[in-house]
Amino acid sequence: MARKMLVIDDDQMVLSSCMRIFEAEGFYVVTTTGPEEGLSLVLDTYFDVILCDWMMPGLDGMEVITRLEDTSPGSAVVMISGYPSIERATEAMKRGAMDYVSKPFTPDEIIKAVNEAIHRKEAEEMRVIERFGALTKTGHISLPSIDEKILQALSDALDERRKLEARPSLETLSEPERLREMTYAVIDKFNGDKNNLIPILQALHSYAGYLSYESIGMIADELHMSEHEIFGTASFYAQFKFEKPGKHLIRCCTGTACFVGGGGVILEAVRSKLGIIPGQTTKDGLFSLERVACLGCCALAPVVTIDDEVYGQMSPAKLSRTIDKIYRNESKG
Ligand code: FES
Repeated sequence: MARKMLVIDDDQMVLSSCMRIFEAEGFYVVTTTGPEEGLSLVLDTYFDVILCDWMMPGLDGMEVITRLEDTSPGSAVVMISGYPSIERATEAMKRGAMDYVSKPFTPDEIIKAVNEAIHRKEAEEMRVIERFGALTKTGHISLPSIDEKILQALSDALDERRKLEARPSLETLSEPERLREMTYAVIDKFNGDKNNLIPILQALHSYAGYLSYESIGMIADELHMSEHEIFGTASFYAQFKFEKPGKHLIRCCTGTACFVGGGGVILEAVRSKLGIIPGQTTKDGLFSLERVACLGCCALAPVVTIDDEVYGQMSPAKLSRTIDKIYRNESKG
């Protein structure tokens, strides 16, 4: 059966190019210039792939892909934009896009991006299924394992060297300076070899809790790779985060049992209370929000966890009270 593709772009030329390119590739292609119309089309038809422009009148592409996460979570979304930047690519990926392509694109470029997006989406679904087992046992998703002793040894070695050079210890540095030193040390530890990109990313993620733009830039320079290439590899693994995590992590479950029990309403309540969507952190750095597929305690649906605490039969009011309590405790210091 032909794969179905939806293309949302206000540029008629892009629509007809995609139609021509992907029909020749065996896709059944539907196009629209209206983002709202695109969002309503996915309610009736399942599309394997959705290409979405970033800048469109009315509703921008970032908002469209955020909504597609709720209405068509199985589709592989590719964002296309005439104004490419790593920040925009990051934002698109955080909101659920599987790839990001700059305009103008060649047929080969867009075909490659679409095939990779489908592949990534399928791999992501497999990971969710695999992680389901871990979730039901532990209640949380574990990060890629990296021996903490490696990080401790690196940090000790850095301190030792700084002492010999009569420089203050790592402890005394600001957080960005410490992270910079550690990034170079980790790259060095893995011989500056691009074949060790994943362990390098894992080590830095374990150290800082996220991969900063600055670290990605430094790795790119040292490994002679592009930032886009590194980001593309890292974003393939759902475990890597690109934003400094908040002090408290809220996980909203929208697995089947929780969704039926009102998980979507709870997620919306967090969005309106804290002004963040899944993958984001509040400006004060206190809360991060994640959406998860199942927390392994469906009988308590809808379920939310905040840090290690599990809250069953959650309601918007209960959630609001819980968040307010955390704010009160934080203000007491
Ligand atoms: S669906 Fe299982 S805990 Fe939410």
